[in-house]
Amino acid sequence: MSKKVAVIRKANFNAAHQLWNPDWSKEKNKAVFGLCANENYHGHNYTLEVKVMGEIDAETGYVIDLKIIKDIIKNEIEERFDHRNLNLDTEEFKHLNPTAENIAVVIYDLIRAKLDAKYDLHIKLWETEKNIVEYPC
Ligand code: NI
Repeated sequence: MSKKVAVIRKANFNAAHQLWNPDWSKEKNKAVFGLCANENYHGHNYTLEVKVMGEIDAETGYVIDLKIIKDIIKNEIEERFDHRNLNLDTEEFKHLNPTAENIAVVIYDLIRAKLDAKYDLHIKLWETEKNIVEYPC
């Protein structure tokens, strides 16, 4: 029986957002989301870590060719979100608050849809150097 190993590919993307709950007053949004509720948006330099777990293939010695992960990240994440306003420019966050938590879940679902079911997947997303979310946990 072969060993399970995790391989990790990192990526970066820059995007603008505004955190806002349309069911709340302006005052409550400002109180809860602070600077992230700024009406004129603001940006983050996101760092993404995509971890794929599986068994080492006896023929290649790979769990998965990292180029496959690189291409999925490019096609599904970077082309969709890099240099975009998440609230205004993306379908995914038109009606979903673009918190780091929600972004991580959306990224997971987009990558999961393109990744062979035999692999496990884990997403880690840095919104800032100090604020990090993981999904699943
Ligand atoms: Ni923010």
